[in-house]
Amino acid sequence: MLSHASWSSFLRASSRRSLFFTPPSYLAANVATNTSPSLRRSFQTETTPPSYPEFAFAFDIDGVLLRSSDPLPRAHEALSYLQSQRIPFILLTNGGGKHELDRVSELSEKLSVPLDTSMFVQSHTPFADMDEYKGKTVMVAGGDEDRCRIVAEKYGFKNVVTPADILAAYPDIWPFSRQLLPYYKAFTRPLPAPIDPSSPSTSLKIDAVFVYSDPRDWGLDLQIIKDVLLSQQGIMGTLSPKNGDASLPNKGYQQDGQPPLYFSNPDLLWAAKYHLPRLGQGGFREALEGVWAALTGGEKGGVQLQKIVMGKPHQPTYEFAEKRLVAHRKKLLSQFDGSLGHLKRVYMVGDNPESDILGGNSYRSPLGTDWVSVLVQTGVYVDGTVPAHKPRKIVGGVYDAVSWAVQQEHWKS
Ligand code: G3P
Ligand code: MG
Repeated sequence: MLSHASWSSFLRASSRRSLFFTPPSYLAANVATNTSPSLRRSFQTETTPPSYPEFAFAFDIDGVLLRSSDPLPRAHEALSYLQSQRIPFILLTNGGGKHELDRVSELSEKLSVPLDTSMFVQSHTPFADMDEYKGKTVMVAGGDEDRCRIVAEKYGFKNVVTPADILAAYPDIWPFSRQLLPYYKAFTRPLPAPIDPSSPSTSLKIDAVFVYSDPRDWGLDLQIIKDVLLSQQGIMGTLSPKNGDASLPNKGYQQDGQPPLYFSNPDLLWAAKYHLPRLGQGGFREALEGVWAALTGGEKGGVQLQKIVMGKPHQPTYEFAEKRLVAHRKKLLSQFDGSLGHLKRVYMVGDNPESDILGGNSYRSPLGTDWVSVLVQTGVYVDGTVPAHKPRKIVGGVYDAVSWAVQQEHWKS
């Protein structure tokens, strides 16, 4: 499913940038007043523990720190306590749709905790390092209006086309969104080339398809992505003669230079404002898989939808995040410089058993760091049900997760 090249460029992205923040004294005061007794208690151990934390945290966002855009109870306290103790943490979300800088400043404001991009990984962050496509024509789908196009351009992608651009230029390509044209016209752009199957060499050619965030117009995005995958070489308006050729691998589907298809987030469900979980990017992918199977005969007929799915629970996303956390920790604890020991444990705090917990449980750290999965009850997971993947610990909310973890670590604050 995945070419080595895609994952290695993916992992190179992690060593990009790191800026760091030293928490002002008022946070220490904050802890004194709000910290539960367990956080203040210290334990006698045989050997004197190092005075820097050998552990860290990775926090999921939706369902752990925020519910849609509202901070969840004691999220601010949990993060500000960790900052006061110089205990490293990153935010690791399958969400996306805005540039990291914009999202981080928004989160800092919402949670009233200073954050920066060195401690933040969102679903499409690794796309920023896919240099091999930056000079080519890529299709970017998902998110509000054309925000994801803007993110891709900030990553350095020169030629970004959206499904709505194609609809605005050729409304007949998806007749059922015609009524949305006035809405789309506000943020669509002229295509870099016409769709002209009679002249394939000058017709619009797509070299890669990226789903950056949850699609809004599933019908349009499904139609356009399906057209690209059945085309010849990614040339819009064409149909590959290899499709359905049983003598070829995958029955000839996606065997004719069609562009790779990247999904940034596998989540079928996520915790939004509504009291029940909502369909996410994974729901869209399942819908595309269904249409693809109906068109090609599907797995029963020996045909797969070849794609690259990133995000939690996948190993490379955790490798990417771990690298970022280690770099951030090094900066945070720079005063220990040469004597800073190995990061022994990371507490992965999440609300979704399928992404956060499965990811934390199955991650094999190249550094030998133990990732401990902690499941909260403020999001997708419902108290009293059996999670699909067993976490190391189930707690009420993010503050309880931090309390439990620092107790496990006998951290004296
Ligand atoms: O679209 C976002 C959603 O899939 C989950 O985000 O922060 O819970 O990983 P998060
Ligand atoms: Mg979540």
